[in-house]
Amino acid sequence: MKQCRRSFLKSGVAAAALMATKPCASLAAPDVAEIAHDPLRPEFHLMPQHNWMNDPNGPIWWKGQYHLFYQLNPHAAVWGDMHWGHAVSPDMIHWRHEPIALAPTPGGADSEGCFSGSAVVFDGKPTFIYTGVQNAPPDQVTIRDGNDKLRETQMLAVAEDDKLLRWKKDQKPVIASPPPGMMVTGFRDPCPWREGDTWYLGVGSGEREVGGCVLLYRSKDLRHWEYLHKLAQGKPNGKVAVNPCDSGEMWECPDFFALDGHHVLLYSSENKVFWTTGEYDTHKHLYFPLKTGVLDHDAAYYAPKSFVAPDGRRILWGWLREMRPDAQFSAAGWAGAMSLPRVLSVNHDGYLEMMPAGEFEKLRGEAVTAKVSAGEPLRLKLDALRHEISIPLGTAAPKFSVKLVTDGRKAWELAVDVAGRTVTCGEIAVPIPQTPWKSDALRIIVDASVIETFVVGREALTSRVYNVAAGKTELQIDVIGGESVEVKHWPLQAISKDRLTT
Ligand code: FRU
Repeated sequence: MKQCRRSFLKSGVAAAALMATKPCASLAAPDVAEIAHDPLRPEFHLMPQHNWMNDPNGPIWWKGQYHLFYQLNPHAAVWGDMHWGHAVSPDMIHWRHEPIALAPTPGGADSEGCFSGSAVVFDGKPTFIYTGVQNAPPDQVTIRDGNDKLRETQMLAVAEDDKLLRWKKDQKPVIASPPPGMMVTGFRDPCPWREGDTWYLGVGSGEREVGGCVLLYRSKDLRHWEYLHKLAQGKPNGKVAVNPCDSGEMWECPDFFALDGHHVLLYSSENKVFWTTGEYDTHKHLYFPLKTGVLDHDAAYYAPKSFVAPDGRRILWGWLREMRPDAQFSAAGWAGAMSLPRVLSVNHDGYLEMMPAGEFEKLRGEAVTAKVSAGEPLRLKLDALRHEISIPLGTAAPKFSVKLVTDGRKAWELAVDVAGRTVTCGEIAVPIPQTPWKSDALRIIVDASVIETFVVGREALTSRVYNVAAGKTELQIDVIGGESVEVKHWPLQAISKDRLTT
């Protein structure tokens, strides 16, 4: 969990927010009608109509529809009282909100929250496996982040209808405690997969001074699990931190799957998402990572989760978190958005690659191509903050920059140094990989306060930018060295009439 969410939990404001479990509880947040006009709210990224969201949970294709669930606080735009929100889509781009899928059961093992998890089809029925949290005596606590009050267990819920509106929970956890003798820093976010007639399950965990890890379990029926060993083990980063996620002593949201002849493990820790690719020994059930990298270079992207689309594509969703002060997003009445769906692949050298799913391109209006020469910047006034630009990389323009400028002031900048093989955004330097560069080598997708950038289909960078405003913000491209670049750009449609997603 992010440090600010944890420390926030202890603060008075958070206590008030958490006690605000009745819909009328007021934190003086704007109502939905006002939120619909908030110019910083993205217009084609999925988000609940108001309040707080975080991780994507249990993505699944079922009976012709994409279902996406997500961590939701239905009471306020701050983290707390986690439920599973639900949205449904024919194409992963246009969404309809559905009623809450999972809510904490008073007195149950998830009474303090339904944390992240996954969906699989078992016995012909969509089934969630997720983490329940409840208050517990010190010897049963599993979240050791300075607050040390909660116990995590792995729980099951089965869909009772094909629209996935009603879910029946098993009363008892299916995994009630971490492996005996382990003093875990956390024990959550189960990710299951099937090998033949056996189910395997990775659970995010870690130990102080040992590092974050994924615990591996096995079962025939999703209800009786046998602990095997650690599937993967990390190292602490040397920082002394109360929250073990900050010191690399806890891994959240593991995701493990086969892709393009490799195995991929994703996990979230140290405010980043890491990918590894490697080999998985299916006899010994051991994973050997060979290559590793950062999945998105800004901390705004966290806790992703993948699933397989009906055509076999491995699609990844990620939580785009707010990077402005808590008081600001809490007052705005909304916090967090879902990333665009990213199609994952692994190239022949074992690097993880990603691009927005092709479905996204339906949002494009008419393409405009512009040649931008040194000394003659391209200036596009954005009447709507929904725009995509695509720029090839090459020697004709070894250095150029892409900026968002609001009322003459720089709001965001990407500095591209082709010769130096780096794209820089503030403090963040993203390497430009040496693979063959296509015409869309650099793709930048702007949606109000969200900017998703893709470099050569390999590196990604998600920025949150708050000093932008439709009609006042310009997209500016300057060629600094060399001759020119050919910029292709599109206006993008919103997915709803207002900013409320449906
Ligand atoms: C990641 C995370 C998960 C947890 C959930 C709680 O952002 O901390 O580890 O299940 O969020 O909301």
